[in-house]
Amino acid sequence: MYILGIESSCDETSASVSHHRKILSNTTVNQLIHKEYGGVVPEIASREHLDLITKVVEHALVDSGVKINQIDAIAVTNGPGLKGALMVGVNFAKGLSIAKNIPLVGVNHMEGHLFSNFIDLKEIRYPFLCLLVSGGHTQIWNVKKYKDYELLSNTIDDAAGEAFDKGARLLGMPYPGGPEIEKIAKGGDLDKFKFPIAKIKGSENNFSFSGLKTSLYYLIKNNDDNMINDNKKHIAASYQETILETLIQKMIYISEKTQVYDIFISGGVIANTRFRDKIAQINAKPKYNINCPDMKYCTDNAAMICMAGYEKVINAKFSNLSLEVYPNLLMNQ
Ligand code: KG4
Ligand code: ZN
Repeated sequence: MYILGIESSCDETSASVSHHRKILSNTTVNQLIHKEYGGVVPEIASREHLDLITKVVEHALVDSGVKINQIDAIAVTNGPGLKGALMVGVNFAKGLSIAKNIPLVGVNHMEGHLFSNFIDLKEIRYPFLCLLVSGGHTQIWNVKKYKDYELLSNTIDDAAGEAFDKGARLLGMPYPGGPEIEKIAKGGDLDKFKFPIAKIKGSENNFSFSGLKTSLYYLIKNNDDNMINDNKKHIAASYQETILETLIQKMIYISEKTQVYDIFISGGVIANTRFRDKIAQINAKPKYNINCPDMKYCTDNAAMICMAGYEKVINAKFSNLSLEVYPNLLMNQ
């Protein structure tokens, strides 16, 4: 079964072709224009998607060696995300579906991240925990079986990716902040600055990152520019370590609580090399089986939309031309 996946929920325009759980091509254009504005500008994102989508889909098809009339289903992200951006992908997919008479499948972007771990898997073993760490989400799900997901942990304020982005901004670095902080943190002293790991009384399962961001704000405000600039790599290393420790400690806590030791991690933040190294150390213990997607499938891409689309197709969950976009779509909807 060949699936054409289309992703346009934020600032990546992406298309991919898959065959069962194998990815044959994945073309992603990152809209660098948003760097100038310090964050994603929704109107600009929609316009960029419009300019790019035809070329990106054509490229993904050519790269895969699969002809459009061989495609069995078109899977497209219809939420959550920016409304105008989502509409570009969904309307393009609908047009192609009508023109070529190919069935359409609407895909939840977060389910896409979840299933980015299924690429190349022969068999999926349930239940497992999924730690989703992106720019807008920080959650732990208990995935009992397909479409039976229980939300165990959520952030009560900022997401982990957002903590990276806001921290980078405070330190004068461009968007997206995660890769920038990672770069500058290399060789920095992790313990030189102390940032808080939030413990939420009465809500122990959940995450919070706003206190961390506030303490960085005051560190910068209460010290002169020279001190901050001289110590940037140490501040970045300590700040990054606090975000990663917060994620890991909570993941272990939930894993022990549920006695589920098969864990998948997905979303942009797991592109962080320090995070991956720390996870590899935990994985060295036989108790844990923690998996992360290949680097190229961590940040937004259409390969993961193909994977989530494939699960929908084999479960006969097709959409029709009345498919709408839902900017706040939840994963278990
Ligand atoms: O999954 P994603 O591409 O988009 C969303 O669905 O949000 O995640 C983007 C987030 C951004 O906040 C970005 O700063 C973060 O992932 N990110 C990273 C790294 N690469 C991307 N965070 C830490 N280290 C990285 N290397
Ligand atoms: Zn995403």
